[in-house]
Amino acid sequence: MIHIKTAEEIELLRASNQLVSRTLAEVAKYIAPGVTTLELDRIAEEFIRDHAAIPGFLGYKGYPKTLCTSVNQQVVHGIPSNYHLKSGDIVSVDCGVLFQGYFGDSAYTFAVGEVSDRVRLLLKTTRESLYKGIENAREGMRIGDIASAIQDHCEREKFSVVREMVGHGIGKGLHEAPEVPNYGKRGHGVRLQQGMVLCIEPMINMGRKEIAQDPDGWTIYTTDKMPSAHFEHCVAIGKNGADFLSTFDYIEKVYSFKTN
Ligand code: MF3
Ligand code: CO
Repeated sequence: MIHIKTAEEIELLRASNQLVSRTLAEVAKYIAPGVTTLELDRIAEEFIRDHAAIPGFLGYKGYPKTLCTSVNQQVVHGIPSNYHLKSGDIVSVDCGVLFQGYFGDSAYTFAVGEVSDRVRLLLKTTRESLYKGIENAREGMRIGDIASAIQDHCEREKFSVVREMVGHGIGKGLHEAPEVPNYGKRGHGVRLQQGMVLCIEPMINMGRKEIAQDPDGWTIYTTDKMPSAHFEHCVAIGKNGADFLSTFDYIEKVYSFKTN
């Protein structure tokens, strides 16, 4: 069942997602060679609690941390650890909060120091594909329109779309219906209605699309060990377009997204 949100609920979801966006910007200030992903996690947890909210992932199905930090070949759900980021790495930082009864959820992939041109293209293309998907997030369109826009944009650069992991509805639950895949066919799938709130989160691999799960029970990685990028926004479906509940503006004030 898809929960259609009232205007009041959408404002609560905006507050939660804005806090996620500000938390990601706080974390972004510290991303540099040498920092550990566990240090980033502590910064995020403290920031969230200082804003009267609760980390949204901590304890969710037993997940042990505030952030998911997925480095290089890790696709999503990497667990913060004592790993020191180094120049040339990329790290997806995925953050969720629970605030006033509603979840926020957004993610951004950062380049650490200097990364290769092909890796930069992977980040740029994945980020662009998210916005191409969101262009289709309006009343009367279908989930398949979002999905195919993302897929077409990434496959044009010969990158591949992860199949098993998908975006989702969000509200009082972190993961609500419908599923939002990043591949599919135009005109197929659930019809979008005003008041639906979706997390759209392309997970795009430089090499092959196949993934596997680490014995830690969480970390998803590419089986060919090539890098993977992940960007996520939360949007409300409107009559004439998407209403962005999360934003990368705060992040990109402290972190410059270099495209070449
Ligand atoms: N953005 C991720 C997702 O939607 C966050 C979930 S991590 C979990 O799957 F630990 F909470 F599961
Ligand atoms: Co999500």
